[in-house]
Amino acid sequence: MAIIIQAKNQILREKAKEVPFKDIGSEKLKKILGEMAKTLYASEDGIALAAPQIGVPLRIFIVKKEISPSIFINPKIIKISKKKQILSEGCLSVNGIYGTIKRAEKLTIEALDEKGRKFTRGASGFMAQIIQHEIDHLNGTLFIDKAINLLKTRKEN
Ligand code: CO
Repeated sequence: MAIIIQAKNQILREKAKEVPFKDIGSEKLKKILGEMAKTLYASEDGIALAAPQIGVPLRIFIVKKEISPSIFINPKIIKISKKKQILSEGCLSVNGIYGTIKRAEKLTIEALDEKGRKFTRGASGFMAQIIQHEIDHLNGTLFIDKAINLLKTRKEN
């Protein structure tokens, strides 16, 4: 299990690089995905995790599912709605802080799975929010940069 990097660390501010296609399916990538899954599932309120959050500057994020995570490699938003939703948001890299943020209501994402197969998925509501949050991580952006307001929770560690 990896340590989740926190907001002040510059690693979270870098633009992550695309995973070279030849590396998909490699032992190295399997290890990274395994580490990401372990780290995400070990966190109680974590919903998704981007590779930079464990110090890996690659364009990968995973979303928690009951049995195995959904894996998005080299994701791209190919369509996004103009219509926004106002939501509450937090981040494993910003411990103890929640905020209100505007996110597009709907989007379409294209990505590769762990075997290098391209897939396209439409998302709305909560899932659209998660995807936008994770893609921001890959571009060095945190929700605290965009939030309308921020609230501290008592749960800080
Ligand atoms: Co986050």
